[in-house]
Amino acid sequence: MPSPPVPQHCPTPIELDDLELLASGALGEPRAFNQPGSPVTLELPEPVATEARVVGAVELVDPEGLPLARVSWPAGVVDPITHAQHGPFRDLVLTPAAYRERYAGRTVVPLGDPITTSQLGELSGLGPVTLLAFTGTGTPWLSPVGLVRATRAAAALLPDAVVVAVPVPTHGDPEADHAIGVRVVEAFAAGDPVHGLREGDSDYPPEVQRVVDHDRPPPERQGLVVFFTGLSGSGKSTLARALVDLLLEQGVRTVTSLDGDVVRRNLSAGLTFSREDRETNIRRIGWVAAEISRHGGVAVVSPIAPFDATRQQVRAMVEEAGGAFFLVHVATPLEECERRDRKGLYARARAGEIPEFTGISSPYEEPQDADVRVDTTGRTVEDALGDVLRGLREAGFLTL
Ligand code: ADX
Repeated sequence: MPSPPVPQHCPTPIELDDLELLASGALGEPRAFNQPGSPVTLELPEPVATEARVVGAVELVDPEGLPLARVSWPAGVVDPITHAQHGPFRDLVLTPAAYRERYAGRTVVPLGDPITTSQLGELSGLGPVTLLAFTGTGTPWLSPVGLVRATRAAAALLPDAVVVAVPVPTHGDPEADHAIGVRVVEAFAAGDPVHGLREGDSDYPPEVQRVVDHDRPPPERQGLVVFFTGLSGSGKSTLARALVDLLLEQGVRTVTSLDGDVVRRNLSAGLTFSREDRETNIRRIGWVAAEISRHGGVAVVSPIAPFDATRQQVRAMVEEAGGAFFLVHVATPLEECERRDRKGLYARARAGEIPEFTGISSPYEEPQDADVRVDTTGRTVEDALGDVLRGLREAGFLTL
């Protein structure tokens, strides 16, 4: 098959993260993946498709910009340039051809969950096995790296087992996922025996359990983002500060505060209150908070965050990092916020001196997905904070 044209200039390289999005259907559906003998094709979404039309193809690049594959236009045929060379356990990610060269003849065992004690017994009588760990967005119950670690821990308990990682994202469509999985397994096994594991119990060998516990800590040790949203003057900062102080007093968790006004003075200095800049501001806060949660810390954030879509993006970033997202809507009504007007901003906004002021001349989209909703009108800080603490305790995030 002739190679697709090499673009001289590729204005919109797609990052590997986006490739996962592509493959997961968020940016476009992979077409014809499941027809034996056919090339892998992608449907390019706009505006990438328009760019591709101009230059004849687009490149898929890794996060550092290294070109990994070329997608032709209009066929959307994916032509690999090189093997993805980043990420943990990269040595365990093999192409089917490289796999066959090294390991042909073994029984192939596909899996997406950690191996349980009963499954270990099932495997020990199979002779040389290849544990084919399906990692990728949404595939495993554990994080991709956690699944590989758990599989290696199980492999060490077997007489002759090797581990190979296959990064395959899910599509949220069980039938398509199964069909893709079957093709991947066929490509690796190529006629060697394939063993499908029986449904396991939830009892893991201690070596595997240790990995599972580390990868999926219980709520009181899981990274956590407590996200306060509400109008200016609603009491977000006051509640957030009280929560941070309490956590510091308890001394059980590490805690970082990212208050709206404070962030605007450093991390987001220079941003305006246009919709676009507000979204940038919240995404920055979300990015930092997600990193904190990745390390098992608590981030208490308290920006206005008036737009639902941006709040959802932060939720997704945090969950992707393995953290939990806890949304508190500080639902003090506008009239009360304006009555308080501690900074005198509402008066200035009414006088037309501050444009795009939330609640006055810029919208606030009330969350429908808040874990706790608290109206601070006529309540003490202690009393209102009690509602938040109750919610956090009920969800298991606080034990004290
Ligand atoms: S957000 O919309 O991007 O989430 P953020 O929480 O960072 O807002 O900043 C809100 C704070 O900035 C308010 O508490 C208020 O003190 C100040 N502020 C200044 N101008 C505006 C405005 N146009 N709208 C809302 N808040 C403003």
